[in-house]
Amino acid sequence: MKRLVQLYAYDFSEIMGLDVDADALFPEGRVLGRWLDGAAHAFLSFADGHLAGFAIAGVGSRLREDPEVMDVADFFVLRKYRRKNVGVRCAAMLFDLFPRRWEVRERAENAAAIAFWRKAIHEYTGGRYGETIANDEHWRGPVQSFDARIRTG
Ligand SMILES: CC(C)(COP(=O)(O)OP(=O)(O)OC[C@H]1O[C@@H](n2cnc3c(N)ncnc32)[C@H](O)[C@@H]1OP(=O)(O)O)[C@@H](O)C(=O)NCCC(=O)NCCS
Repeated sequence: MKRLVQLYAYDFSEIMGLDVDADALFPEGRVLGRWLDGAAHAFLSFADGHLAGFAIAGVGSRLREDPEVMDVADFFVLRKYRRKNVGVRCAAMLFDLFPRRWEVRERAENAAAIAFWRKAIHEYTGGRYGETIANDEHWRGPVQSFDARIRTG
């Protein structure tokens, strides 16, 4: 997991302005706050029998006082497996694991993630989700909200 986090941090280094330290390692805490504080569930994903990424789901909103909602804290697909629907399938598995309300946040600068999550959530919910654009001290970028129980009725 630690190595995957380094690759994830590398992908985010341009957006977040991250530098490596003298050992060429990125600071984990800057990208993985939620997992490190223990208030989250972490999953590895596999494709064709190979490690292909990870997903980290936090419990409780990062945007407001709501301890019940699930939050996609971090989500990563290794480059070899991108644009093959791996992300969409992993997202659906993650939402199925926690049939509750969800919030998904993307940084305003992360155009690929915004396009990805809109598609993944649209497919998962059949279009039954809301989106707001946050712009405050908690977050700056799109936030999708939906209830995963609509899949099971
Ligand atoms: C964002 C990310 C998770 C997408 O994973 P993926 O497995 O490539 O996504 P999928 O193949 O399931 O993509 C499904 C759809 O999302 C959209 N999408 C995915 N990547 C995209 C990109 N780079 N640019 C534009 N749209 C994109 C497309 O509509 C795509 O469908 P298409 O390939 O038929 O056009 C992956 O690029 C990644 O790990 N990025 C770095 C980390 C990151 O930004 N994580 C998200 C944090 S919120």
